[in-house]
Amino acid sequence: MGRPAKALPSAKGAVGSNPTLSAPGPGVPGRPPMRLIPVNDPADPRLAPYTGLRDHDLRQKRERRGGDFDGIFVAEGSLVVARAVAAGYRLVSVLLPYGRAERPLAFAVPDDVPVYVAEGRLLAVVTGLGVVRDVLAVLHRRPLVPLWWLLAGSRRLVLLEGVANPTNLGVIVRSAAGLGFDGFLLDPSCCDPLYRRASRAAMGEVFALPYGWLGRFPGSWGPLREHGYTIVALTPEASAEPIGALRLPAGAKVALLLGAEGPGLTGASLAAADRRVRIPMHRGVDSLNVGAAAAVACYAVAAATG
Ligand SMILES: C[S@@+](CC[C@H](N)C(=O)[O-])C[C@H]1O[C@@H](n2cnc3c(N)ncnc32)[C@H](O)[C@@H]1O
Repeated sequence: MGRPAKALPSAKGAVGSNPTLSAPGPGVPGRPPMRLIPVNDPADPRLAPYTGLRDHDLRQKRERRGGDFDGIFVAEGSLVVARAVAAGYRLVSVLLPYGRAERPLAFAVPDDVPVYVAEGRLLAVVTGLGVVRDVLAVLHRRPLVPLWWLLAGSRRLVLLEGVANPTNLGVIVRSAAGLGFDGFLLDPSCCDPLYRRASRAAMGEVFALPYGWLGRFPGSWGPLREHGYTIVALTPEASAEPIGALRLPAGAKVALLLGAEGPGLTGASLAAADRRVRIPMHRGVDSLNVGAAAAVACYAVAAATG
């Protein structure tokens, strides 16, 4: 496990060799104050799961089955962590900068979950994030819902091909959740929805909306067909039908397919989709950011299917 080796000057506000601090800090109103555990050494193994947070590829490698951090993920921000906890994800540990330790958290921390507190500069070195102002937490992953359950119980799904950018993925998931979609499905080249930046951009909706992984598109669409989904591909191509004219039977099951920034959808997926729709563009703008396109299309598809 690669660890930052650089030693830091002693942490401001840290309590020397005291193993723990009792502070009025990050308790939830109405709960007794939590036990804060000061950490002063960036190589402290208890901080290992919080390392390399800015590096999505590294995190994916470490969090995959058999990796150093198999079975866990990191979430950032009190409200985002609260959404994860509310959705049933269990906390492993919590990490706070000293400046954040005096305000309550939006979630309860069970007594057996350690709450580490550290000086801001140490956190910056450990995490690789520029400034850490809010809470970080490590949580256990949960088993994904079975694909048949997601397909049988949903009416509207988002289908993503090559959406590797975590912020775009988070924005899409937030739109899908807020605009009446029931879940989302990813091809193998998409970003991990539980990656810190994705869950933050989604304001925690990745924890509320069920999702699953499929094989490469379009070869993996058999189960969608079996469950009666119409696959609607979103593409800026001029030959596609304008989304405002999209008509679908009321109650139709729809999978809305979106592609990556840059290349867009593959030719194979475009050819295999049942419908191809475009958001008409003006002023010579060729396309929208995929997150913006998802918001427009989720709204239009929800309206078209009642
Ligand atoms: C930035 S676009 C990719 C542009 C790429 N040159 C193409 O032709 O698809 C990323 C994704 O957002 C969606 N998108 C963006 N603008 C769109 C538009 N005006 N109409 C339909 N879909 C759009 C599509 O799903 C597209 O694959």
